[in-house]
Amino acid sequence: MIWGVRPLGSGKATRKRWVLAHAVAIAAVVWNSGASAQDAGRGAHLFEKFCTGCHYHPDQDKHWVGPSLHGVVGRQSAGSTFWAYSSAMKRSNWVWTEENLDRWLKNPQAMVPGNKMEFIGISVPEYRADIIAFLKAASK
Ligand code: HEC
Repeated sequence: MIWGVRPLGSGKATRKRWVLAHAVAIAAVVWNSGASAQDAGRGAHLFEKFCTGCHYHPDQDKHWVGPSLHGVVGRQSAGSTFWAYSSAMKRSNWVWTEENLDRWLKNPQAMVPGNKMEFIGISVPEYRADIIAFLKAASK
């Protein structure tokens, strides 16, 4: 069979074209949703996957392997009552703005060399934004 030669409306070729057109449309929707506003719902899912091994859910003000993340957006770095901050972290001196959290989650060791959070980082910017939106929403 030669593509484009078959008349429209008949058989397999039409079906294939339909599938192709819709696949492109779906890809466009997924792309757009990735590029759109922060998604705290997806952030919750990502938090479950990447963070709950060491941190309590941010609606609870409790420490575990890592410090409480309750109200962390807007908090001083190493500013909770967590007893086991590394000296590298204690020396850090900034507020956890969304921008700083984004840098941290991208590559914790690059931002605070020698810190104790054994986490490689998240390279997808949208995912980081979603987690930050979740941290904000879940702390209320
Ligand atoms: C392997 C355990 C581990 C994982 C996984 C982990 N963390 Fe941590 N986190 C820590 C530890 C330990 C610290 C304290 C680091 C230090 O003092 O050097 C920390 C510190 C932090 C801080 C700074 C808190 C403060 O009070 O200054 C933030 C914010 C944070 N983590 C967010 C996250 C998020 C969000 C995730 C998931 C994407 C995550 N962490 C995954 C263990 C972990």
